[in-house]
Amino acid sequence: MLNLMTGLLGLGGHLGGWRHRDAWSDQVMNLDHAIELAQTAERGKFDLLFLADGNAVRQMDKPALFAANSPSDRPAVFEPITLLTAVSQHTSCIGLLATATTTYDEPYSLARRFASLDHLSKGRACWNIVTTSYPEDSLNFSRTEHVAKDVRYDRAREFVSVAKGLWDSWAEDAFVQNKATGQFLDPTRVRVLDHAGRHFQVKGPLNVARMPQGYPVLFMAGQSEDGRELAAQHADCVFAVTNTKAAGQAFYADLKGRLGRYGRSPDSLRILPGAAVYVGRSAAEADELFEELQALIAPSLGVPYLSKLVEMNLSGYPLDGPLPDLSSETLGIAAFRKTIAEMAVRDNLTIRQTYERVLPSMGHVTFTGTAKDVADQMEDWYTSKAADGFNVTMPVLPRCLNDFVSLVIPELQRRGLFRTEYQGRTLRERMGLPTPQNPYFTTHGRAAN
Ligand SMILES: Cc1cc2nc3c(=O)[nH]c(=O)nc-3n(C[C@H](O)[C@H](O)[C@H](O)COP(=O)(O)O)c2cc1C
Repeated sequence: MLNLMTGLLGLGGHLGGWRHRDAWSDQVMNLDHAIELAQTAERGKFDLLFLADGNAVRQMDKPALFAANSPSDRPAVFEPITLLTAVSQHTSCIGLLATATTTYDEPYSLARRFASLDHLSKGRACWNIVTTSYPEDSLNFSRTEHVAKDVRYDRAREFVSVAKGLWDSWAEDAFVQNKATGQFLDPTRVRVLDHAGRHFQVKGPLNVARMPQGYPVLFMAGQSEDGRELAAQHADCVFAVTNTKAAGQAFYADLKGRLGRYGRSPDSLRILPGAAVYVGRSAAEADELFEELQALIAPSLGVPYLSKLVEMNLSGYPLDGPLPDLSSETLGIAAFRKTIAEMAVRDNLTIRQTYERVLPSMGHVTFTGTAKDVADQMEDWYTSKAADGFNVTMPVLPRCLNDFVSLVIPELQRRGLFRTEYQGRTLRERMGLPTPQNPYFTTHGRAAN
């Protein structure tokens, strides 16, 4: 069965999406839109709603891009856990995936917020573990430069194990609340963490009871060697950037091949590449939407946006000439630079052709056509072991989510590729992911050391 997730930011996934006639016109800090999207996605039986995030207003040094508001820069958005907590009160089954950084947060406060979200949503919390892609976030956290990538991953490894230790603070039955005896909690059913490591000293325990899912569903997005290894050890799902089926298959085989080292089965980790979907009642309708959006992007916007994705200023290079060499390391998301550079060389693209190719999907794969065409492509990736599902980007909102739910979802259901009803009590159960048992407490045992 496919796993499907989609973004909750009302701007739409295409850089020109917010300007389209079918887009909402009041998109800033709009809770009503988020609730409407969440309810539509839940009607379509999606697994998850996703919020990417950062901790800075970006691109202020690139006036054209800054003023045009790209969906991946998010100059004014709700903090994800806060928004998803509000959305949880208007939905009942869909998962709630919030991005939060291990580089500029603390394990205790973050573990507490996710445990709270899991309780408040009745077992639907999900954490996208990132190490922060945008270097200037560091300037808002009392630093003068971004933390180096190897240190970020070292901190992330320790951060995640501290968070798990904190989530294991309490046995499920610790709060006996016995009015007759006056015993509120059982002191033998709690564990002090006493963590002292390279990056963190955390005593614990967490001041939130054991959450319904044990741990939130854990997502990761990094694709470097360190990123893949951290995912193989801890992640339930990985958000991939693979814009060809062959690249998807290679990444899938590599990551699943690492799980055995951590005693995990291949099915315990789901790989969900990003996919932009342009669907229509006819292929012509899908093409028309695609072209309408492309026409909204002038070179004065396309070039700075591509520059941002590949982390190199391309404005001094001829628009109709090739991209410069992009083989050096970046501080941010290497996967975007790598996949875009490979595509441009492989298909002999100019800078203009590259941004025209990249913008519809923001570096991910694009599926276009009728519901049958889109379902064919999704099924092909799924059966070829290039994906367990997709993070579906909707170019224009709310139109494209509505169309996806009314056109593509029934086609996937008809093929037996997607659920027709939610089943299970928590997100983990609905996704078929294992629920972590607390290693320190048996059902009626004492705290182990
Ligand atoms: C698909 C994808 C999505 C990401 N989303 C975010 C995000 O929302 N916020 C953020 O700060 N970092 C994000 N990151 C950055 C990663 O957490 C990581 O810092 C970066 O990719 C560098 O690690 P890597 O070389 O292992 O990919 C994302 C990375 C990828 C590949």
